[in-house]
Amino acid sequence: MGVFASTDDPVSTGHEQVVFCQDKQSGLKAIIGIYSTALGPALGGTRFYPYASEADALADVLDLSRGMAYKNALANLDLGGGKAVIWGDPEKIKSEALLRAYGRFVESLNGRYYTACDVGTYVADMDVIARETRYATGRSVEHGGAGDSSILTAWGVFQGMRAAAEHVWGSPTLSGRRVGVSGLGKVGKYLTAHLLDDGAEVVATDVNPRAREWARTTHPQVTLVDDTEALVASDIDVYAPCALGGALNDDTVPVLRAKVVTGAANNQLAHPGIEKVLADRGILYTPDYVVNAGGVIQVADEIEGFNFDRAKLRATRIFDTTRQILRLADDEGVPPAVAADRLAERRMAEVGRLRAIHLR
Ligand SMILES: NC(=O)c1ccc[n+]([C@@H]2O[C@H](COP(=O)([O-])OP(=O)(O)OC[C@H]3O[C@@H](n4cnc5c(N)ncnc54)[C@H](O)[C@@H]3O)[C@@H](O)[C@H]2O)c1
Repeated sequence: MGVFASTDDPVSTGHEQVVFCQDKQSGLKAIIGIYSTALGPALGGTRFYPYASEADALADVLDLSRGMAYKNALANLDLGGGKAVIWGDPEKIKSEALLRAYGRFVESLNGRYYTACDVGTYVADMDVIARETRYATGRSVEHGGAGDSSILTAWGVFQGMRAAAEHVWGSPTLSGRRVGVSGLGKVGKYLTAHLLDDGAEVVATDVNPRAREWARTTHPQVTLVDDTEALVASDIDVYAPCALGGALNDDTVPVLRAKVVTGAANNQLAHPGIEKVLADRGILYTPDYVVNAGGVIQVADEIEGFNFDRAKLRATRIFDTTRQILRLADDEGVPPAVAADRLAERRMAEVGRLRAIHLR
């Protein structure tokens, strides 16, 4: 089924199309996964990563592309879900030729898939890829792109958190609440500023001494704690995971003192079923892929010719979407993570179906 041997079975996962791309001279081995184009062309980033095996690369692209379909559906975009992986160590094999070869494969899909940055690919890489394809977003401002997506990601997370605050405490503000931010990276920094502006008290941690120093000098009112373990066990109202995935696991959830979890990190739920443990403990979890959609909203806007104000308005609507999901969760007696999936599937089915109405 592709130019290099495969060991997984995309047919059983429901993907529309999985494309294996190879350019031996530049060393490119890529897999583009298109989960769904029910709502429009598939959009999702390219992950450049030294997978241990081709099976791992395939499993990741199948998983990530499916996730993007749900994320884009709930971000109210007219875009489906896709993702790509380039298999290899970017430090060793990334080159102009490899990126341009990849760009030609993206172009060959004729607009069924739009790419963007992900782990291991950067704005500068998208500029190179875009020399071969019209379907690359996340480019630099100089090349007509939207630039740093963490600004609107943080804004969207803040909106999701406001909706959660309204649901739990009756008012859409974090004023007077203690919010624990784990990870003061690109998103965590902007989020901290929004929280302080809103009148919240911020407790934070980061493994990187430079990030801690940033907090000390930029926002001396932020309380720093040693590590995430100390943060989750401290007296916080809201926990905002903004570092790596798997933040909500069998170690953290039982000791978590917060009533709300809203953060930027992808894949916060460490395993299926942990959302139920959160719900049983009375902790409101706003699904990560709903509240961190500001970044994808930003790159999607680039397709129309980037307009920051329009993109910000769209990211602001994450407040309404989160509110809708929390209400649906209450109405249907399910955790918000389940309600979000249901809402995304509903939009893909209801709006996707309209393509059956032929226009000519
Ligand atoms: N940047 C975006 O637009 C965007 C969009 C959607 C989702 N996300 C997700 O949000 C998260 C943060 O993204 P980012 O762009 O700010 O990344 P980043 O790399 O700039 O920041 C992550 C920060 O977390 C810190 N960190 C790592 N391990 C830690 C630990 N164990 N405890 C405490 N801190 C730790 C790092 O030192 C770093 O400062 C990631 O999971 C990312 O996938 C980002």
